[in-house]
Amino acid sequence: MSTQTIRPARTFQGSLTLPGDKSISHRYGMLAGIAEGTTRLSNFSTGADPHSTLACMQALGATIVHNADRTISVTGTAGAFQQPSSPLDCGNSGSTMRMLSGLIASHPHTFTLIGDHSLTLRPMERIRKPLSQMGAKMDLVDGHAPITIHGGPLHAIDFDTPIPSAQVKTAVLFAGLQAEGTTSLTESVRTRDHSEHALRAFGAILNRTAAGSATKLSIPGGQKLKAIDATIPGDISSAAFFLCAALLFPDSNLILDAVGMNPTRASLLDVITSLGGRIKVLNVEEHHGELIGTIQVNGPVNGPRGMHIGGELSAQIIDELPVIAAIAPYTNDGITIRDARELRVKESDRIALVAKNLRAMGAQLTEHEDGLEIPGNQQLHGATIDSGTDHRIAMAFAIAALRATGDTEIEGAEAAAISFPEFFTHLETLSQR
Ligand code: S3P
Repeated sequence: MSTQTIRPARTFQGSLTLPGDKSISHRYGMLAGIAEGTTRLSNFSTGADPHSTLACMQALGATIVHNADRTISVTGTAGAFQQPSSPLDCGNSGSTMRMLSGLIASHPHTFTLIGDHSLTLRPMERIRKPLSQMGAKMDLVDGHAPITIHGGPLHAIDFDTPIPSAQVKTAVLFAGLQAEGTTSLTESVRTRDHSEHALRAFGAILNRTAAGSATKLSIPGGQKLKAIDATIPGDISSAAFFLCAALLFPDSNLILDAVGMNPTRASLLDVITSLGGRIKVLNVEEHHGELIGTIQVNGPVNGPRGMHIGGELSAQIIDELPVIAAIAPYTNDGITIRDARELRVKESDRIALVAKNLRAMGAQLTEHEDGLEIPGNQQLHGATIDSGTDHRIAMAFAIAALRATGDTEIEGAEAAAISFPEFFTHLETLSQR
């Protein structure tokens, strides 16, 4: 396990282009693997998770080539995955395990999906339910991985998602793409819609209609996909760490190029604005349905404000909540986070670990089953941080450390590589001391 020492900073300044979005990289990697032809992907995520997806696609018969120009070519299996010779190793990646289960369930082979210790603790019943309604034969161990799928023909279902989860939605859409009949899915809380854009980009028909305040998606089965050329937008969830760092210094100035600004992810920018960040968005373009823009942020002149985060907003910025919580003590009025129970079943129990590490840095707070109440106006001190081998916890507390008194040691800092291997190098460049 590696430890990173983070020294306090005087301010935070510079410009950066971020590696490709993790969520989009997973989807493009998977759909390229089942499509016909060779897909070329620029700015694919450098995180370990999307590379777990690529390794699984290779085991299923796709050919992956890392080109000299740093693009990745994926030659797909034209709709026919092969029987892998060993278990599909999803590593630390819940996205890989859940979305891939939907993609492979109709193929006439036996698949075993495995993962690391953290992934083995995460709930998988949520995908078994809809997929088994479609006719998939899936075995779990007490609701968890390892997962065994005895693939075979699937039929369409009408599914109401009980929890807001883009991974569950994607598993159903990917299975529906290959089922008999038209599968529909209704979600009452709108989750990230990268799968919808990606499916259309690869040539699939997919309809979206409003069903009261909910969204209904319908996907006809038996569709074939065609390869694409695509550039993956910079990861807004990686950007979140540096946007929060910029909030901590009134004279900070950060420019992030070509960041993904998909509206189902970009409520983070509204939160940064509510906390007092002065944001400008420049040069917005659209690629395969995904918005990409340049973001400039300057820190709040009178220190970051506080806010309440709850309801749908908690679901929409679920991955960014750890870093928002980690800087909450430095705000003027504190931050309350509720309706975020899902944080307990991420790569770690993120509510418990944020509470533990904030307390280690000297903060007062209240932990709730579904969130945290963190008063403002608290000065944190350097401490030893337990990342719990969770990438977002390691990075969140490296940001909190920038305004602490004294040095902070992040134990298990290597976990950052799951989504953002370059994080500590960029942090060092942007932090002015
Ligand atoms: C993701 C969806 C979210 C998110 C995860 C990535 C995706 O998970 O937390 O990091 O790419 O679809 P859930 O679907 O479990 O909410």
